[in-house]
Amino acid sequence: MYSDAELLHFITTEDPAEMEELFSAAREIRAGHYGKDVYFRGLIEFTNYCKNDCFYCGIRGSNKNVKRYRLSAEEILNCCRMGDLLGYKTFVLQGGEDPYFTDDRIVEIVQLIRKEYPDHAITLSIGEKSRQSYEAYFEAGANRYLLRHETANDDHYKKMHPEAMKLSERKECLYILKEIGYQVGAGFMVGSPFQTPECLLEDLRFLEDLKPHMAGIGPFIPQADTPFAHFRQGSLNQTLRMVALTRLLLPDALIPATTALGTIDPKGREKGLLSGANVVMPNLSPKAVRKLYALYDNKICTGDEAAECRLCMEGRIRGYGFEPKMVRGDHPSLQLVA
Ligand code: SAM
Ligand code: FES
Repeated sequence: MYSDAELLHFITTEDPAEMEELFSAAREIRAGHYGKDVYFRGLIEFTNYCKNDCFYCGIRGSNKNVKRYRLSAEEILNCCRMGDLLGYKTFVLQGGEDPYFTDDRIVEIVQLIRKEYPDHAITLSIGEKSRQSYEAYFEAGANRYLLRHETANDDHYKKMHPEAMKLSERKECLYILKEIGYQVGAGFMVGSPFQTPECLLEDLRFLEDLKPHMAGIGPFIPQADTPFAHFRQGSLNQTLRMVALTRLLLPDALIPATTALGTIDPKGREKGLLSGANVVMPNLSPKAVRKLYALYDNKICTGDEAAECRLCMEGRIRGYGFEPKMVRGDHPSLQLVA
């Protein structure tokens, strides 16, 4: 529907009137599908060990300056219990690719959560796995999977990852996850080193092809101990434009206003919602480990309790005329539980 030239124009325009036109078109589409509702997801960052070595990521395996942690099954369950008390109906378990968490351990954790919370949504975000592994987690009760593709351009992917990591494999994982029946989230960073407007165009075209249920889009933010420490962070406006364009191309997608957006601008998440996003993911991880999940520098909300994060987000959202919703918030094509 949109030509490459049109998309490239909006990927790059800094004209305030054109940007407002784009944001308001995205807001209108979002309102048509979700009204003023903003879905809350409780994020549990359960391990910062990672066997991978993405050049941008603060918890990459070869970063010796990270104090590593992993939560026990009981600690993860306690985060869920706290989340449930605060009203969350979705738990998002995210972590580095940590070999300690074998399939058996992940299955056990998902089963424990599922047993206690039969109606909640369980989202996993633990990286690239085999079809069999994804199937085992799904059978154990996981419903959703977040795996950003990071960039849809092969050369760009190679510049951001060690040779062992392959874009084709990451994309393949996303198609497999969809086939199994997960609600799937892809996504990418904006302003990552070596990214061009054409890369972002490819990201949009990839999303159109995959048609994920969710799309996570946030600015690249440098982290001091990574090879990309001295690159510039992604721009707020370009990230907002990419959120809005994603809303135009995937009208009923679940699109978070990301923590990274909130990190580069004090009102970044609110601006994300005003550009077409409709989800927020406040942190449920224990306060003691928050600072250690340092994907990038100056990450916000690392000193707050889960309850404070929830209240803070609720206030911010209402202040902009949005309505916080503590519901499962499944994709409209898969509404399982009201
Ligand atoms: N290991 C899982 C995976 O690979 O999908 C989940 C954890 S990973 C740390 C979560 C996301 O953090 C990545 O998909 C990436 O987009 C984002 N991220 C990592 N480093 C970042 C940085 N420096 N700036 C912004 N986002 C970053
Ligand atoms: Fe862990 Fe990239 S460094 S997945």
